[in-house]
Amino acid sequence: MSKQILILPGDGIGPEIMAEAVKVLELVNDKYSLGFELSFDELGGAAYEKYGVPLADETLERARAADAILLGAVGGPQWDKIEPALRPERGLLKIRSQLGLFANLRPAILYPQLAEASSLKPEVVSGLDILIVRELTGGIYFGQPRETLVLEDGQRMAYDTLPYSESEISRIARVGFDMARVRGKKLCSVDKANVLASSQLWRTVVMEVAKDYPDVELSHMYVDNAAMQLVRAPKQFDVMVTDNLFGDILSDEASMLTGSIGMLPSASLDANNKGMYEPCHGSAPDIAGQGIANPLATILSVSMLLRYSFNLSEAAAAIEQAVSLVLDQGLRTGDIYSPGMTKVGTAAMGDAVVAALRNL
Ligand code: IPM
Ligand code: MG
Repeated sequence: MSKQILILPGDGIGPEIMAEAVKVLELVNDKYSLGFELSFDELGGAAYEKYGVPLADETLERARAADAILLGAVGGPQWDKIEPALRPERGLLKIRSQLGLFANLRPAILYPQLAEASSLKPEVVSGLDILIVRELTGGIYFGQPRETLVLEDGQRMAYDTLPYSESEISRIARVGFDMARVRGKKLCSVDKANVLASSQLWRTVVMEVAKDYPDVELSHMYVDNAAMQLVRAPKQFDVMVTDNLFGDILSDEASMLTGSIGMLPSASLDANNKGMYEPCHGSAPDIAGQGIANPLATILSVSMLLRYSFNLSEAAAAIEQAVSLVLDQGLRTGDIYSPGMTKVGTAAMGDAVVAALRNL
């Protein structure tokens, strides 16, 4: 049976970084005879231009039918002024929620070669290996009601709602515990239970789920403290599990520990490990079209795709090894450059990974 991979390059640097990830995907497809069939479509601003909406129904159907999805990035200033419901980001949120991709895995791993590129001291970050498990289809991103309105006195006001049900919390907590179990056996649940009702339920449910995981050491941390601890002593963390908004913020923070957000892949999984894979970074409109973006986060997302959706750990590990070899060779895109290294563009970085992979 062939396996269908839907590729959504998206906006900004999306098409450039995706071109490199596709080179890598095609090579592993060949090298390991995986039988992947690739098809392409649009999401975000590119979909708005083509279909008039940021996620077309036919694209959603294609995504449902696919075995896995590889996504670049969405968004850009040219769509800032359009109706909120048609903004590129809405396409991304819709595909996440329609496909039930509730578990977002965002690993922050420091490649030893990049210790100098981190904004923190090398001794603070060396050996860093954190996994952030972010709830992705609930919370304030989707909560109703949400509204912008004009009050009687003529003032504008707006509000959002942050709901979490017991089942939404327990299923993401289980993902966190399961991940911790096969890693360092430590799970830190991040919330704001000193203030928010949704966080109080979050903490209670996480403690209930913990009874099934006596082998995992559970701790709880308020999100403000977690943000501070991530830059003070990040190596205290193994797996962190948190809600949609906190996870969005903390994963950007954690990414900088590794030198650049340009290094971080992610996986968004449903209850059956069907997944959508994408770099954690955005569409970087300021550098789009210049051929200088770092394609490694997207290439590493291919590795996550192989591992989580298809259990192909050998091919997945080969990609990670190829990335590491290229870093050993001193090749760096601008975001991870440090003096003495060789600065390269997007395509040269992708080609170097392909060459390293071919020779493995
Ligand atoms: C992310 C992004 C998205 C999010 C945006 C583009 C809607 O920041 O994947 O982290 O907030 O989830
Ligand atoms: Mg984000």
